[in-house]
Amino acid sequence: MLPFIRKDLAELNAYTPHPGSASGESVPSKSAIDRLDTNECPYDLPAELKQKLAWNYQQLIETNRYPDGGHAPLKEAIAQYVNESIAESIHVPPLSKGGLHVPPLSKEGLDVPPLSKEGLDVPPLSKEGLDVPPLSKEGLDVPPLSKGGLDVPPLSKEGLDVPPLSKGGLNVPPLSKGGLHVPPLSKGGLGGVLPPKTAITADNISVGNGSDELIRSLLIATCLGAVGSILVANPTFSMYGIIAQTLGIPVVSVPRQPETFEMDIEEAKKAISQTENPPVRVVFVVHPNSPTANALTTNEIEWLSSLPEDILVVIDEAYFEFSQNTLAGKLQEHPNWIILRTFSKAFRLASMRVGYAIANPELTAALEKIRLPYNLPTFSQLAAEFALAQRQLLLAVIPETISERAKLIAAIAQHQQLQIWPSAANFVYLRVKAENRNLAEQQHKQIMEQLKAEGTLIRHTGGGLRITVGSPQENQRTCDRLSQILT
Ligand SMILES: Cc1ncc(COP(=O)(O)O)c(C=O)c1O
Repeated sequence: MLPFIRKDLAELNAYTPHPGSASGESVPSKSAIDRLDTNECPYDLPAELKQKLAWNYQQLIETNRYPDGGHAPLKEAIAQYVNESIAESIHVPPLSKGGLHVPPLSKEGLDVPPLSKEGLDVPPLSKEGLDVPPLSKEGLDVPPLSKGGLDVPPLSKEGLDVPPLSKGGLNVPPLSKGGLHVPPLSKGGLGGVLPPKTAITADNISVGNGSDELIRSLLIATCLGAVGSILVANPTFSMYGIIAQTLGIPVVSVPRQPETFEMDIEEAKKAISQTENPPVRVVFVVHPNSPTANALTTNEIEWLSSLPEDILVVIDEAYFEFSQNTLAGKLQEHPNWIILRTFSKAFRLASMRVGYAIANPELTAALEKIRLPYNLPTFSQLAAEFALAQRQLLLAVIPETISERAKLIAAIAQHQQLQIWPSAANFVYLRVKAENRNLAEQQHKQIMEQLKAEGTLIRHTGGGLRITVGSPQENQRTCDRLSQILT
């Protein structure tokens, strides 16, 4: 290690970017690779939306100018979406203690209700798709502007053809005629759903270069300089611990209940009362948790509510769109709570790196102080605004994900040697039943490697295996390959 680098960094097990493998080498495969290791949406943005984005990139974005450092339009659009999500949040009953009871497969196969007609009604990609001219041998063959100016299909007045929402879905206002502009809140606020006093506004929002950036900003704001430690319940999202360590911030870990993955609250209480120099300043929870896919229970929420105001509670709702259950409606009661969300999962924008925090204005102001002035490229801001304006279209695939998740769980539960848990997210978590953890871990590694050799990437993490719910074809291949490996 270089003599000027901090010694503790030498020991840090840093995050290795996916997809690929722990060592980052490419994946050997004869066929296409099913990337079920990073919990993204299996579908790219619809071609029409990409085309609109590309048009904006070409015609409106000035690459020589700094991005909007205030993110005002994006924050407004996010606030509106958060208000909707609060109004529509569903109550999720806690998991039963006994784990998952899956009925056996019927002879005919998986007994999964078909998608409702209103469900996955995503317009197919137009045949023409994006009409990008191929590169000429000489270099870039940019088509000349037509006489009339821009040679790009104009935005239709109606914008994108958005399918109607299913009854149970999100209540999204239609696209404004101009395409990009996010429709403003109606005069009466949210159609009278929320009293204005509790409505989230742009002041409650801070936007980050992925929610990873917000995690780092939060740690800088709360713990840096030996003033605080963080508490996590393992297994959980690894970046809390990894980013804390890069900043020299101590990480206190407590276990979860082995059957339900609820945090061990007694251990957490003990850890908080016994940790000094520096004391616990932040508790991180994920709702629903990654990799174990369980939502916070009433017990956990009660405990989080009881934490003193000098401890920040970070509730990471990266997978909110799959659980449809948010705690954002409780922020008003808890000035020491903050919610993180991301555009990387249900909104299909992992490559754009956009995350956001929802909290009281004093806390978001602290985050705004810490972030770099131009943390979010113009194109990323635009993409997130587009995604929100088109949320009805993009989120229309969620019923498919949820029905595919049920199929995947039912198929995996048929293997007696595996234990699989219920999921409130877009991934499932399983473990090999074995005499001891070491043996189970060896088998997890083997299964992961064998699936990888066949072209399915999954995560071996937290003492088990996490598999993202992909497209129906990908999920079928996962089930087939798993059966081949296990029988
Ligand atoms: C729980 C959780 N939080 C945050 C993130 C990171 O999100 P982003 O892509 O916005 O940095 C992930 C990504 O996998 C996640 O699982």
